[in-house]
Amino acid sequence: MSFNPIEQKILKLDRQVPRYTSYPTAPHFHDGVKEKNFSQGLSSLTNNKPVSLYLHIPFCHEMCFYCGCNTKITKKYAPVEKYTDILLREIRTVSDTIGKKLDVSHIHFGGGSPNSLYANDFTRIMDMLRERFNVLPTAEIAIELDPRVLTHDKAEAYGKNGINRGSLGVQDFNAKVQKTINRIQPYEQVKESIDLLRGFDVQKLNIDLIYGLPYQTVEGILDNIDKTLTLKPDRISLFGYAHVPWMKKHMRLIPEEALPQADMRLEMFHKAKDKLVKEGFISIGLDHFVLPDDPMAIALKEGTLNRNFQGYTTDNADTLIGMGCSAISYLPTGYYQNNSKVHLYEKEVMEWGLATERGIEFSGDDVLRKTIIEDIMCNLKAETATILESFKKSNDFFDVELAQMQGLVDDGIIEIDTKKTITVTPEAAAAVRVVASYFDEYFNPQTNTKHSRAI
Ligand SMILES: C[S@@+](CC[C@H](N)C(=O)[O-])C[C@H]1O[C@@H](n2cnc3c(N)ncnc32)[C@H](O)[C@@H]1O
Ligand code: SF4
Repeated sequence: MSFNPIEQKILKLDRQVPRYTSYPTAPHFHDGVKEKNFSQGLSSLTNNKPVSLYLHIPFCHEMCFYCGCNTKITKKYAPVEKYTDILLREIRTVSDTIGKKLDVSHIHFGGGSPNSLYANDFTRIMDMLRERFNVLPTAEIAIELDPRVLTHDKAEAYGKNGINRGSLGVQDFNAKVQKTINRIQPYEQVKESIDLLRGFDVQKLNIDLIYGLPYQTVEGILDNIDKTLTLKPDRISLFGYAHVPWMKKHMRLIPEEALPQADMRLEMFHKAKDKLVKEGFISIGLDHFVLPDDPMAIALKEGTLNRNFQGYTTDNADTLIGMGCSAISYLPTGYYQNNSKVHLYEKEVMEWGLATERGIEFSGDDVLRKTIIEDIMCNLKAETATILESFKKSNDFFDVELAQMQGLVDDGIIEIDTKKTITVTPEAAAAVRVVASYFDEYFNPQTNTKHSRAI
């Protein structure tokens, strides 16, 4: 493939930058933030705006070699049942600490594979949430699902408990790729899962695909898109494979020589994107594609799209309470993360009721920079002058950053207008994380090597 001049410049930008699902980013969380801080943050939730809940279920039956999620492999059910009991205890402590029954507009079950929970344990969790929170009738209740372990009774429980959005992990349909990543999952299995969910009224469905996996080809990616379209999902996520074997040891089982290089990854992404856009999907931020009547497409148009730990979201609650091991809460005071090891999380909840291990409380310009980074990541645009005014800062506050970004302007990656509004050019959308990194006060491009590639 021949790249246009802007794409060639983007390829040169192939440096390691954060994914910006939070700001400050997770590597800057520290262990000076504990249960006591989280507890104070929860009890000072004063306004009555609806909040969001995230529940982490860290279990899978087998390890996918590319997996970057926080999960634990178990073939037995007893650990999952024990975890459920402890999670219920954490939910009770959180609600007791808040001291009132808050409205909830979004619930997200993430993992691992939340459908590793048996139907009755899933229902126990939903019952507890409804007892302790006021789950609004309009609430979006979403769950991440592994089609290989979805059963009739689990899908039935999702329908009965009001789940209205499901996200299915697919990644790739090609047999050789599936074998190499240790995830055998034929097309028919995915189709059966989708029919099952829709049969129980879980209507809104997302499919996760990944590009950049070993032995993938551009043709293979386009074939994945074709097959995915036959399943008629409302949303498609197309993630770039983040290869971080220094953090996730099982990724060493991925043959590195079979990984597509940066130029091929870019070609895969662009061709897949072109195809999806031609098929009527709207491209959202980095890696989401949605139908035009989807709430995400509407949020993009209205400038209300947000980004959280699950990626892009229509959720605009300013409080997200994360429960379960490794879960991150976002409160007006900062970020609070639970212990990431299942056994330590369980021990702490048994002892204290909560399991906060690390986090960061906002200081200095954190919230201002976070607002700009979120705007760049979500809308490919940030009106810095307007944002500075709303934070009561002088108009020249970011002049150093804007001067540093002149190289990106010269390369056609961004435009900066007279009102100091930064716009990422449509051809350069793949470079959005690099653009955002200029506002990251904690990020040092010279010393940073711990993130996955930008493209
Ligand atoms: C928690 S999983 C989804 C539910 C379920 N566990 C499954 O895999 O079917 C979240 C998604 O993250 C994506 N993912 C996992 N590891 C990744 C990596 N290293 N790079 C990019 N995407 C990744 C996959 O697309 C996966 O479907
Ligand atoms: S099923 Fe999902 S969470 Fe589990 S190992 Fe595979 S990608 Fe990771």
